[in-house]
Amino acid sequence: LAKQKEELINLHKDCFEYFREQLYLRKNIEAVKYIIKRRIAKDTAKRFGLGFCPEKNDLYDRLSQKYSKEIIDLSGIFLERNGKNYCRFEGRLIFPIFDTMNRVIAFGGRIISDASAAPKYMNSPDTLIFSKSRILYGLNIAKQSKENEFVVVEGYMDVIALHQEGIDNAVGVLGTALTQDHSFLLRRYKNEVVLCLDSDEAGKKAAIRSADILYQNGLMVRVMELEGAKDPDEYIKRFGKDAFLLKKQNSMFVIDYKVKELKNQYDLTKSDQKFRFVREYFEKILIPISNEVERQEYIKKLSDLTGVNENVISKEFSKTTQK
Ligand code: CTP
Ligand code: MN
Ligand code: MN
Ligand code: MN
Ligand code: MN
Repeated sequence: LAKQKEELINLHKDCFEYFREQLYLRKNIEAVKYIIKRRIAKDTAKRFGLGFCPEKNDLYDRLSQKYSKEIIDLSGIFLERNGKNYCRFEGRLIFPIFDTMNRVIAFGGRIISDASAAPKYMNSPDTLIFSKSRILYGLNIAKQSKENEFVVVEGYMDVIALHQEGIDNAVGVLGTALTQDHSFLLRRYKNEVVLCLDSDEAGKKAAIRSADILYQNGLMVRVMELEGAKDPDEYIKRFGKDAFLLKKQNSMFVIDYKVKELKNQYDLTKSDQKFRFVREYFEKILIPISNEVERQEYIKKLSDLTGVNENVISKEFSKTTQK
């Protein structure tokens, strides 16, 4: 197993070098054009090791000269079609995924034509050396940041855009839900996180879920909201670094963010809605808080929001939790 892992690491390194060389070949100018269109500077592309996998390539044959079929299959990089092996990243811009020791352990690939019907992103499957729920894109760089927090974003492009603007503590969860393993990984380096997910419904839902996981694993979590842009990449390109940093400064503590989102779902001037709000507040806000000081603070807040006496809330809350 150790031997197989080592070979997989070597194979990924070879692929990485191959993809990187391809990016700068004249015949693959479309890939460079795409990078320019996304306003990724040359040195940024270099820092992140971006590459390209041409439609027509001899990658499988090259690798076959050096690695067994078993190892090549275990890499997850190739798919079989009509008895022929082809690279799953064909025609895609390549984002190598590094572990914290700076070894390439997987790839992500993006289509370079938005007219294409193919899925926008294609990623390596989980392998002996890669598990999507245990990797954070850009952590190999961000772990060295002098900031005392991480900025957690959704995608490759978000990480790259932020780093390009000097926000060197950005890491990406690559679309998947944030896991407990991600929390452990982050906590190895810093104990504060600012979540900056996409501003669509999916992103907002993920923000609450992710914030809970991070908070329950002992991280201080704030949530950033981006108005006027669908994600951090678009935001920073449209409004600039200073606007982004200001937003970050104004980000809300996770519980305040949850209260705000919950409050928006109810009309507190209507009794029945107010009662349902109180129940949900118990469920979603008060119960998950384990610190009594913090809980007292949010009981006061509920009282302010509803006009219900604090002592009455406290009494009812202890009744609920005793059941
Ligand atoms: N993702 C994925 N497969 C998809 C869509 C998304 O693996 N079909 C992952 C990618 O890591 C992507 C992240 O989820 O970077 C965020 O997805 P999304 O917000 O949809 O894409 P963007 O990163 O905003 O893509 P782009 O800006 O390149 O259009
Ligand atoms: Mn994105
Ligand atoms: Mn998204
Ligand atoms: Mn985007
Ligand atoms: Mn996005």
